[in-house]
Amino acid sequence: MKDTTSFRHSGHSIVIGPFWGDEGKGKFVDKLAQKHDIVVRYQGGGNAGHTVVVNGQENILHMIPSGIIHGKVNVIGNGCVPNGDRLAEEVEELTQRGIVVTPENLYISERAHIVTPYSLLLDVAEELVRKRDEGKKAEIGTTMQGIGPTYTFKAARIGIRFIDLLEMDKSALEKRIHLFARKAEGAILSAEITPEYVDKIINGDSPEQQKARHMIRGMMPYWNPQGKTFLDEAKVLESMLAHRERFAPFVKDTSYFLAEQVEKGKRLMFEGAQGSLLDLDHGTYPHVTSSNPTIGGAYTGSGIYVDIEHRIGVFKAYTTRVGGGVFPTLLDDDVGKGLQERGAEKGATTGRKRDCGWLDGFAGKYAIRLNGINEIALTKLDILDSEPKIKICVAYELDGKTINSFPATEQTLARVKPLYETLPGWQKDTSHAREFEELPANARNFVTFLENYFKTHVKYISIGKERDQVITRWK
Ligand code: IMP
Repeated sequence: MKDTTSFRHSGHSIVIGPFWGDEGKGKFVDKLAQKHDIVVRYQGGGNAGHTVVVNGQENILHMIPSGIIHGKVNVIGNGCVPNGDRLAEEVEELTQRGIVVTPENLYISERAHIVTPYSLLLDVAEELVRKRDEGKKAEIGTTMQGIGPTYTFKAARIGIRFIDLLEMDKSALEKRIHLFARKAEGAILSAEITPEYVDKIINGDSPEQQKARHMIRGMMPYWNPQGKTFLDEAKVLESMLAHRERFAPFVKDTSYFLAEQVEKGKRLMFEGAQGSLLDLDHGTYPHVTSSNPTIGGAYTGSGIYVDIEHRIGVFKAYTTRVGGGVFPTLLDDDVGKGLQERGAEKGATTGRKRDCGWLDGFAGKYAIRLNGINEIALTKLDILDSEPKIKICVAYELDGKTINSFPATEQTLARVKPLYETLPGWQKDTSHAREFEELPANARNFVTFLENYFKTHVKYISIGKERDQVITRWK
């Protein structure tokens, strides 16, 4: 019988974050997009922020795959949760920069679920309840993009997929929005959100209130302080109808489209968002996102099976975390502050400062195992340039013994003692190196140490923000 699967084995890639996101995936997605035909986002939504610097100009993409910048075909897979308003904004921003988004270069899965303003409201209410009932530590520190509630509606089988948006008649859509409003009303009551509280956020001047206002800006066009849910149902319906018109030409059966393209020999690149430690199943639950950034998510979230030849883990030369949750290698000192400042560790979506720590190799090994990572892209090596000594966590110790398994609870993770290997720093500028041999000996030593520890090749090394500040060790 003719082998109909051989087309599946040719140059497909995935770019994955091994930690809590923000590893610098955007730069590699950008670099590698050029070698592929189609870039596929398979999970997450506007919570992601992929920064791509081209000619000194920063482009931050939240939902649209980075292939858009290279004139590639881009797919927002069924596992994603796009917010119509923000997607429209992103299209507009790209258009203003001369990047035209059309149904020929952007495909939205008919099965992707749309975020509504009620999900944004629920995101706020659920955080308030967690904080009130279990204390500040229980807060997830979400990006307030309505991600969790949208996936909750999906799992509860009451979500609105793009195909539903297209096919539901106005009254069915109205009823569904009303159902979301009732859910939000319950959450508001449970969170004891009062009109006075809301008024302070909307009109207050303190930095906290301004920050809160920034976080909930997506709800503002629908705001109705007099209403039970603080949102105007009629306006929400109107916006959904507008999204129906706007996005109808982009909505496709993307699983079928991808299969067709693969058969024609096109190469796919799966663009992971967030990171493996934020994975709903394998991450540091409950301080995780509500989707699967790990490799399995790429299959479920796109509806295609291909053999993914290049499984690239983007490892930052140190580790960062934003939002709530335990962080074993956290550096709560001047070294951590230095990494944060030099590395400009601030969220692309929320503007929040990221905590910094030494590279958590033990967590990195876990991610390699979860995703079958076979190539490492090392980012921000230059941020370590001034450090006299560099540490790498090579094991976790629990109750006096080293462990093999990554802890499944935060209570246990909080009790582990990271064991470090200390390497000498190089204290030289690496930003001009373009070949591995041009790096100082101790920087090469650091890279070789990681390769031996992870048993995985470091194929790329990034030593600056610009596109050309990358060492590619082999083709
Ligand atoms: P959510 O995805 O907005 O529900 O947030 C859940 C957790 O994931 C929070 O700790 C966020 O800070 C974190 N998170 C979500 N997206 C990103 C990202 O793109 N980079 C880093 N952290 C993220």
